[in-house]
Amino acid sequence: MGKLDGRVVLVTGAARGQGEQEARLFAAEGAKVVLGDVLDDAGEALAKELGEDRAAYVRLDVTSEADWTAAVAAARERFGKIDGLVNNAGILRFNELVSTPLEEFQAIVSVNQTGCFLGIRTVAPEIAAAGGGTIVNTASYTGITGMAGVGAYAATKHAVLGLTKVAALELASKGIRVNAVCPGAIDTPMSNPEGVDPEATAELYRKLVPLGRIGRPEEVAALALFLTGEDSAYITGQPFVIDGGWLAGVSLF
Ligand SMILES: NC(=O)c1ccc[n+]([C@@H]2O[C@H](COP(=O)([O-])OP(=O)(O)OC[C@H]3O[C@@H](n4cnc5c(N)ncnc54)[C@H](O)[C@@H]3O)[C@@H](O)[C@H]2O)c1
Repeated sequence: MGKLDGRVVLVTGAARGQGEQEARLFAAEGAKVVLGDVLDDAGEALAKELGEDRAAYVRLDVTSEADWTAAVAAARERFGKIDGLVNNAGILRFNELVSTPLEEFQAIVSVNQTGCFLGIRTVAPEIAAAGGGTIVNTASYTGITGMAGVGAYAATKHAVLGLTKVAALELASKGIRVNAVCPGAIDTPMSNPEGVDPEATAELYRKLVPLGRIGRPEEVAALALFLTGEDSAYITGQPFVIDGGWLAGVSLF
């Protein structure tokens, strides 16, 4: 018995990183998974590996209304319904606010914030039609506190938490629970940009994070599973920080 037997869950940004691990874990727990991304080769390869009866890849640029409509139609045709959504796709850019070009700010809003809104708006009616289910949004610890150098990103992640709370209120009567994960530093391509020395990064996290290391995408996937499955049946509208203790406070020694 899997924790997601009988469920059909759409995961955005599923070709790599946290979305990939969410797709892998959800499939292992019995769900049919619809993998949405703009990295077609990686997404298709993952769907093939998971198996045709269990996974399907759809090209889904989360900023596109037309892509969302097509993705939902493809999921319905392939698996009959959708009763879960993980809004995971996101992008990060480093810039101080006073140096951030408008196009960069708007591009980050478009993927991280508008993408999450479009996902809720398009998929929630499908989940309601299926008799209820879950939405898990991917915010960040920068959705809860500030971090210099990522102002546009932090603004969108605060917005994702606002969307999460309002959606939880508006969708509760339809049997849809909406929660958010707020990861700290997680070991994915996003947190390992080219040119950054892995040893120096590991040393940084040893000092900064109380648990002494960067997080693993599999650990975020386990939290997303909890929020998608029945173990969290009485939880909605909440942010869940998964950061190795980083936000717990300041350590002097
Ligand atoms: N890695 C971290 O330290 C960290 C920390 C906090 C929050 N997050 C959030 O976790 C989520 C997953 O990030 P990750 O760490 O796995 O990064 P990642 O860069 O490895 O993966 C992001 C995925 O999103 C996809 N994507 C980007 N733009 C898209 C679009 N317009 N439409 C569809 N897919 C798109 C990418 O192709 C990629 O597959 C993001 O929302 C990110 O903001 C990451």
